[in-house]
Formats: sequence, structure tokens, C-alpha cells
Amino acid sequence: MREGHIAVVGTGYVGLTTGAALASLGHRVVCADADPHKVARLRRAEVDILEPGLPGLVREGLDSGLLEFGQDTPAAVTGAGVVFLCLPTPMGAGGAADLAAVEAVAAEIRAVLPAGCAVVNKSTVPVGTSERVAALIGRPDVHVVSNPEFLREGHAVHDFLHPDRVVVGAADREAGRRVAELYAPLGAPLVLTDPASAELTKYAANFFLAMKLSFANNLAAVCERFGADIGDVTTGLGHDPRVGAAFLQPGPGWGGSCLPKDTHALLSICEQAGVEFPLLRATIETNVEHQRQLVDRVAAGCAGPDGTLRGVRLALLGLAFKAGTSDLRDSPALAIARALRARGAELYAYDPALCETRPDLSDLLTLTDDPAEAVTGAAACLVLTEWPEFRELDWTRLAGLLDGRLVHDFRNILDPARLEAAGLSWQGIGRTAALTT
Ligand code: UDX
Repeated sequence: MREGHIAVVGTGYVGLTTGAALASLGHRVVCADADPHKVARLRRAEVDILEPGLPGLVREGLDSGLLEFGQDTPAAVTGAGVVFLCLPTPMGAGGAADLAAVEAVAAEIRAVLPAGCAVVNKSTVPVGTSERVAALIGRPDVHVVSNPEFLREGHAVHDFLHPDRVVVGAADREAGRRVAELYAPLGAPLVLTDPASAELTKYAANFFLAMKLSFANNLAAVCERFGADIGDVTTGLGHDPRVGAAFLQPGPGWGGSCLPKDTHALLSICEQAGVEFPLLRATIETNVEHQRQLVDRVAAGCAGPDGTLRGVRLALLGLAFKAGTSDLRDSPALAIARALRARGAELYAYDPALCETRPDLSDLLTLTDDPAEAVTGAAACLVLTEWPEFRELDWTRLAGLLDGRLVHDFRNILDPARLEAAGLSWQGIGRTAALTT
């Protein structure tokens, strides 16, 4: 096996988790990031993303001397045995993944990569990218390997150290095995394959999850129509191991930094290749339509005499795309907020994860520091992120501040009996209050 440290290029939640976790497994790791402020903060173990366990792991790595941070990417990869590329691949024109960052780094490091080194694509990239990166590097003595990440935000450290599976795709089997070896102490099933299969596995995984969610949200609408309870239906369904219980919780649509970007990217590569995948398009369209229906539902409950929401004040509880993160990227809550704003609503929002970060959302809504402020004078209240603390709010007090009575619980997390005792009217997704008691 070739000696040398591990270099990680990019310190987003994937890169930083990869670097810190590999250091915790005893590897010497150098992480590079182009942002000098971020590097300076990371050298002090200051982590600016909400990721449980990550600051501690970074601190441990720094203290042990196994983890280093630098701004100079070529310097970080010099002498490395394995180089992980953990770079952003945002949604570009027409839904395709934008590979500019991956390509720029490949060009930047090609001349300094040591002979025999493995360059590992961890970013989610279209099928064929390993070949493209190999061509850009243009070094027969350097091997490009695909090793997609399956890390959930908010659980990234746990998911890295307890993977369901490790997928490694390499044209050169020895290089593939060398990368797989890094994960050997974690004892996860290994899928050692070719690069195209590894790249496609990642897209297939995120598409499948999105499909389950679109299915659950549609099923919730069917439940409402027939007086059935979505929780009971999905529990009954989920006990079948062929279906599985996870990812069947209806909500305000699926979002986040991965599912929307990856489903659109898969659709884009299928279209380019002339491959029909109607289910993929339907999965994406169902999400858009589901959100439109939720917005209609809110409007039906509190539109003014002119049929619009002009001047109607609404309270939004939760803006992050899911609980446990402050990430607003492709958040369903923001998609719903934008649609309500377009109909004229005045929005007041509270999210516990945003009290410190305070992103500038002033063109869309007023961000408040506490739920009471958000609900005061509102015609209705919408729960958009499943923060557990929303269930424990003093709903009797909030009822006194709210103007209207309706609480749209788009995460089905509140206790309808408590809300009703407070004189409020609870409306969930795919269930009625009577069925939850
Ligand atoms: C996802 C994948 O889970 C992870 O494996 C991948 O590598 C990165 O993308 P993440 O973006 O962190 O992870 O979010 P995830 O926890 O998967 O949730 C995605 C969206 O689905 C969120 O909007 C969430 O609220 C929604 N969701 C999830 C539901 O509406 N119901 C559910 O039952 C589960």
C-alpha cells in the first residue's frame, strides 16, 4: 500500500466530516479550503455548521496533531496517498450539476499529485465524471475513484462512522481497494464496482428517497379524502421489510441541499442520454404540486374578501429544511413562504436555529426571536419544520395572541387535543384531529 497522508479538498459538511472522522480513525489528514476565514476558524476548532459531534471531532484531531487545515490546495495534496474531492456541485442551468469547482481543482492539482495517488470524488456528480476528471488530470499514474457520500445533515458524523454501506467505484481495482480499506474498521458492507455504477448509486439513492416522500405526500391526500389516517397507513405499510418504515412521514414537501439537486441532475443526465424515466419527472412534479395544494389550503382558510392574501398576517414556525439544522437551502418552508408572499401575505417567522445566524430574509418575511412574537395578530399559524420544541409550546398563551384559530401542522408533530383545549383548530396532513385521539 502506498504511504502518504490523506488530503481533503473542501470543508463543507461532507469534507469536514470526512477529514475529521478519518483523523479520528488514526489517519493523518490535511484539509484544504479556499476560504481563508474558514481555515482560520477551523484551526481554532470553530465549526460554523450545525453538525452534532463535529466540533468535538475537529478539536480532537487538532489536539492529536492528526488533523490540519490549510488554504493552499496544491500544498495539501503534495505527498498525499489519497485525495478526497468534497466540493460543491450545485444545480446549474437546466437542472444539470455544475462541475466547475471539481474541474477547477482537478486542473489545479494535476501537476503536483504524487505518482500512484488515488483522487476520490465524494461530491455527487453525474455519471461519467470520474472519467472526465481522469481526463482533466491526464496522468496514467494517478487513479480516479468514485466514493459517494450518504451523509444526512445533522447526522453526518454518525452516518460516516456507522455507514449502511460503503460504495467504491474504480477502473483500477487496486486503487479502489486502497480507498475501501480506509473504511474497513467501520465494518460496513462494501460495494466495490466501476465508477459509473458508483456514481449512479448515489443518484438512485436520493431519487428513491424523494420518490418515497412524494408517494407519502400523495397518499396523505388520499387519506384525507377517505377519512383514513396516514400515520396508521404508513405504519401498516412500513412493517413490510420490502417497503420499510423510514421516509414515509408526510410534510411540506421534500427539500434540502441534496434531494432536489440530485433528482434534477439525474433527470438532466437521463434527458441528455435520451433515457425515459417518467417516475423521476413525476416525483419532482408531485413535490411542486403538493406544495401548491398546501398553499391553496392556507389561502382557503384566511383569504380576504378579494380572494387574495393581501395584508393577511401569517405565522411560520420553522424555516430550516428539516429539524436539527439551520440549513435553508431548498427548504420547503421557504418555497411555501414565497408562494404565500406572492399572494400578498405578510409573514412573521420563528426558527430556533436561526436566532443566532439571523440570515437576511427581509425581502420575504420578518424573522422573530420567539414564537409568541411570530404568532401575534396572525390569521393562521403554519408549522413547517419538525422542531420537537414546537409540540411543547404554551399553546394556550399563543392562542391568546393569535388572531385566527387555525394551526396548519404540516409536519404532524403537534398534539391536536392540546391545541383544541387551547381553543385552536388543528389541521394536519393526511389525518383528522378525531383520528389522532
Ligand atoms: C439526504 C439523504 O438522506 C442523504 O443520504 C444524502 O446523502 C444527502 O441527502 P439530507 O439532505 O440531510 O440527506 O436530508 P434528509 O434527512 O434525507 O431529508 C430530506 C428531506 O425530506 C427534508 O426536507 C425532510 O424534511 C424530508 N423528509 C424526510 C420528510 O418530509 N419525511 C420523511 O419521512 C423524511
